Amino acid sequence: MKIKDISKIGLGCYALSGAYGKVDVDQYKQVLRRGFDLGINFFDTADTYGETAERVLGEALSDVREEVFISTKVGVSKGEKPFLSRDRVIEACKRSLARLGTEHIDLYLVHFDDPGTPVEETVGAMEYLQDQQMITHYVVSHIPTHRIQEYIKKGKPSFLMFEYSPVARDAQRDLFKLIQEHDLNSLAFSVTGRGILSGNITRQHRFAEGDIRNMDPLFKYARFESALRISEKMKDVGHKHGMSPVQVAIAWVLSHPEITCALTGPSTIEHMEENAASVDFLIPREDLEEIHDFLDMEEERTKRDDIKIVERLLNAPLDRESGFNDLVYVFETAVNRGWVGEDEIMPMFMELFKVREEPKVPLMKEIQYRLREMIFN
Ligand SMILES: NC(=O)c1ccc[n+]([C@@H]2O[C@H](COP(=O)([O-])OP(=O)(O)OC[C@H]3O[C@@H](n4cnc5c(N)ncnc54)[C@H](OP(=O)(O)O)[C@@H]3O)[C@@H](O)[C@H]2O)c1
Repeated sequence: MKIKDISKIGLGCYALSGAYGKVDVDQYKQVLRRGFDLGINFFDTADTYGETAERVLGEALSDVREEVFISTKVGVSKGEKPFLSRDRVIEACKRSLARLGTEHIDLYLVHFDDPGTPVEETVGAMEYLQDQQMITHYVVSHIPTHRIQEYIKKGKPSFLMFEYSPVARDAQRDLFKLIQEHDLNSLAFSVTGRGILSGNITRQHRFAEGDIRNMDPLFKYARFESALRISEKMKDVGHKHGMSPVQVAIAWVLSHPEITCALTGPSTIEHMEENAASVDFLIPREDLEEIHDFLDMEEERTKRDDIKIVERLLNAPLDRESGFNDLVYVFETAVNRGWVGEDEIMPMFMELFKVREEPKVPLMKEIQYRLREMIFN
């Protein structure tokens, strides 16, 4: 199959990691299969989503394997630093092939950056896997832009994968330019804003323990307030055309010619069918312009609010419960707003992330101090 045959909507298996709470594995398999029946042929998973996530995907699609694109990822495993050395990439690929029950992976992704391994080495491993026909394409995801540029210069990635939705537009700042300049394809993930663009998540909503959204900056402070307003905007536009807010959000992502496929991760058939139906909705030009202006306005407003919030969080007493999540908010905001470089701040973020299960107040206080120095001095 050719890249041009990839469906506009894809399904991902991140939820099988438990990131969005408990999932019924059999139901998830049915969601994937029903997606295929509706014309979806792009399916994404990762070794780090847990063994089940690759096995379930392989099992759900085993009899239609040659009619679908399967993508999976390498480079990180729980509790470890990212790794992309030649041997580990090749080993991880073999294990993913076994779990997926397939002889080849259509798209193999560099999941996270490993600054300790030269890009040439990882590219070499990917090219070896291509020569062995274990993978068809390789892809870069979730890594700083200058490292993506290095991959483009030293190798031949066919795709980029990044978050993109009305509540996460950073990719359009520099990744869209790379896509155009180098004629790349792209996979946008979390296009429903991890559920917030459905309009079902309110200020009163409480996520279950262990749900990643408890520490996700999108669900906190200025970004959450903005996401709620954006979700309301999607609802208003959808109302005019008989579409739901989430369908407007997905159609908006797909209105960008830079996007090859929009990935969503629903765990119910109802949500999946709703998302799949957005493929036929073309947002009229005047609505696109209205959404564009609204999102620009929201970004300006959130930027102003974020400065005040970050200043407050970096000067407030830290408590064990909320301190960790507040520091994550600061880290992500500082990078997204371009106040600090991702490479510069990443080691400190990893230091904090290591103690995620049991955050220690003295360490958090020290990181708070260092962040204050880095951002405001
Ligand atoms: N490269 C990377 O680092 C990376 C990072 C993140 C994701 N991804 C890939 O991209 C895929 C998609 O990302 P994602 O899972 O974050 O997508 P997503 O669809 O934005 O988020 C999934 C969450 O949104 C909810 N949702 C989806 N459709 C809905 C609807 N119509 N109505 C109400 N709620 C809805 C789901 O709820 P229900 O469970 O109730 O349906 C679930 O809680 C992932 O599964 C993964 O394969 C890659």
